[in-house]
Amino acid sequence: MIYVNRSAVVTGGASGIGREVARALAERGAAVAVADINLEGAEQVAAALVQGGAKAEAIACDVSRPEQADAMIARAIEAFGKVDILVHSAGVGVERSFLDTTPEEWQRILDIDLSGTFFCGQAAARHMVERGYGRIVNLASTAGVRGGTGRAAYGTAKGGVIALTKVMAVELAPHGITVNALAPGAIETELVAKMHSAETRTVYRAAIPLDRYGTPEETAAAALFLASEEARYVTGHVLAVDGGFLAAGVMHRR
Ligand SMILES: NC(=O)c1ccc[n+]([C@@H]2O[C@H](COP(=O)([O-])OP(=O)(O)OC[C@H]3O[C@@H](n4cnc5c(N)ncnc54)[C@H](O)[C@@H]3O)[C@@H](O)[C@H]2O)c1
Repeated sequence: MIYVNRSAVVTGGASGIGREVARALAERGAAVAVADINLEGAEQVAAALVQGGAKAEAIACDVSRPEQADAMIARAIEAFGKVDILVHSAGVGVERSFLDTTPEEWQRILDIDLSGTFFCGQAAARHMVERGYGRIVNLASTAGVRGGTGRAAYGTAKGGVIALTKVMAVELAPHGITVNALAPGAIETELVAKMHSAETRTVYRAAIPLDRYGTPEETAAAALFLASEEARYVTGHVLAVDGGFLAAGVMHRR
């Protein structure tokens, strides 16, 4: 898959899955806007891409603010002339039981993980509609499909991302825009380092047929497929990148 003459915005591009998506797209020829609330981190990632010979820009953006999402897309268009691809990876997590989740935590997770997906997707799609082409890849989670302990706010937000992805796919299909989501399971990133306790790691691994956490590279590979020209007939899909977690039920290890 080649992304020469394509330009992409990767939110959450300063870290984890987003950083790896930005790197992989740039390596294959795309111009990449690395957008993140952590501007310093985004600048470091963009600088490394430029050093590798790619076109890249760092953009400061809090995805939970609609005016900042609009400004981010406008800035990317100013830099590259267009936006063909949005990979929306910005997100935060919390591991808190349903009974202990505070209204503030609930609102913060929904604002960033769910509303952020809406604001960034809408800003990008309004531009893509004018051009009649677009690829949008949202980062959902297996937590948006399965009920797991400690995922009241996070799982609800990610379940919303899946529903929103399907509505966007249907409404934007006539405009040449595909919209899909990834549902990663446990991927070794900074987010998981903060979110998964030692106990969570043991319990989680036992439920993964491939018996290990995934890597940002393995997740980025799936995002790149959905963002490619070749995936033109795939829309409204939720692709699990989870080592088989969603497929599993009772499991004996032999
Ligand atoms: N790592 C996993 O196991 C896993 C599993 C399922 C889903 N996901 C999802 O994948 C996405 C990326 O996760 P990751 O593991 O790479 O996390 P990460 O913490 O490594 O990276 C997330 C990035 O998002 C940025 N960010 C946070 N809030 C923001 C905001 N308001 N505006 C703009 N940027 C903001 C952070 O600064 C960070 O750079 C998230 O949506 C996450 O929910 C991750």
